[in-house]
Amino acid sequence: MRRHIHLLLVTAAAGLLGACDTLMTETPTAGDEFAAPLDGLDQSLNAVFLQGDENFEKSFSVAEGLGPIFNNVSCEGCHPGDGRGSVETGFFRFSAGGDLLVDAGGPQHQDKVIPGIRLVPEGVPAGVDKSFRLPLPVFGVGLIEAIPEQTIIDLEDPDDADGDGISGRVNWVTAADFVSERHVGGGSGVHVGRFSRKAQVSSLLEQVSEAYQQDMGVTNDFIPEENFQSQHTATVSIGDVAPDPEISANTVLETVMYVRLLQPPARGRITAQVEAGEALFNSLQCSACHIPSIRTGDHEIPELANQTVALFSDLLLHDMGEGLADNRPDGDADGYEWRTAPLWGTRLVAEFLGGQEFYLHDGRATTVEDAILLHGGEAQAARDGFAALATADREAVIAFVKSL
Ligand code: HEC
Ligand code: HEC
Repeated sequence: MRRHIHLLLVTAAAGLLGACDTLMTETPTAGDEFAAPLDGLDQSLNAVFLQGDENFEKSFSVAEGLGPIFNNVSCEGCHPGDGRGSVETGFFRFSAGGDLLVDAGGPQHQDKVIPGIRLVPEGVPAGVDKSFRLPLPVFGVGLIEAIPEQTIIDLEDPDDADGDGISGRVNWVTAADFVSERHVGGGSGVHVGRFSRKAQVSSLLEQVSEAYQQDMGVTNDFIPEENFQSQHTATVSIGDVAPDPEISANTVLETVMYVRLLQPPARGRITAQVEAGEALFNSLQCSACHIPSIRTGDHEIPELANQTVALFSDLLLHDMGEGLADNRPDGDADGYEWRTAPLWGTRLVAEFLGGQEFYLHDGRATTVEDAILLHGGEAQAARDGFAALATADREAVIAFVKSL
């Protein structure tokens, strides 16, 4: 079935900018590459993109609805330059088996609380399943959303029928009630999960509305109730003065449209070393999970339709072994499984994290080489193949990954 994206707000926001002559008047620096919209958007989409960009950068104050408990004051605070965050901006998810422990503050740990309120920051209860999550890049997520479900399903090999030791599978998830079937991944029944570290989210609208309400404590038309532990009901109204919902559906949809229209960074310089690394990447079977290209399907926005994109991910779950396991199920995903990390934009990681680098779901690797060497499970053979290479060949693989 063909899904329709909410374009209603486009008309509403189209008047914001008048003539589009303020767009991209300066030559983009490398830094701006992360914040650039897809090429060729029409004027009304550009206007929504610019409004969404402001929403994304906006720091919320208490008067505007921040908290009562929260992790950060803005989207940008965790996704600097629209890229990944650092280990300081990540957060824990926790639960116990299938129990999301809502009364104990689960399933997400908020480590901050607004001033003047008799609440303490949440703790993570002892004995629960904990999973630390590094913020993911947000560029290119519209292209991820535009990949037909069937394309992802066709990449599955749950019983390893081809005998290559690699058996990706879909995380089948249900969408939040507020996500209608007009949205990719919305409506009743199960859907292909494609967003977040375990592909536990099927729709961008859900990802973004929950970011507002969970990560920043900003209620919205989609999730109008504040997030706090039920024993604090009586005290919560003392500090959190902004009436709920604190932002409108339109604001959330503009922010969704902003991330949807963000262009993934272009490839870096392709040298002979990079080409040699690419050949090794393929022969080591890195490309069995980090598949070099994938096609989007039909889409109302021409710039997202029928594009071949260099995602370097199959968006499937893979068992990555004991070492990387968080032992915390998420949707259909078990405690060993992770979504193949897309590798696009890897070349700009250090630039956006002030010279630092963090890789893998919890940021435990600070170099690409460490990230590869920490692969296990279905990726054990590829990892061992990489480790056995001569130094110059290992450097070539790294140079290739860092050209993406
Ligand atoms: C406190 C830090 C934090 C804030 C604030 C935050 N995010 Fe995130 N974001 C994350 C983390 C961590 C993940 C990965 C979550 C997971 O794997 O469970 C994520 C994942 C995402 C993804 C999924 C990307 C993908 O490839 O699957 C999108 C899109 C996103 N965030 C958008 C936003 C938007 C828009 C906002 C503001 C409304 C926002 N985020 C605010 C930390 C944050
Ligand atoms: C069986 C599937 C599979 C294979 C094979 C595989 N990877 Fe991965 N790769 C993953 C998954 C899943 C993750 C995310 C793991 C996590 O978040 O803890 C990942 C993460 C990465 C990362 C970190 C990306 C980031 O943004 O954090 C790099 C770099 C990487 N892989 C490179 C490689 C290279 C190079 C090879 C070949 C030597 C390879 N991978 C083989 C599945 C695979």
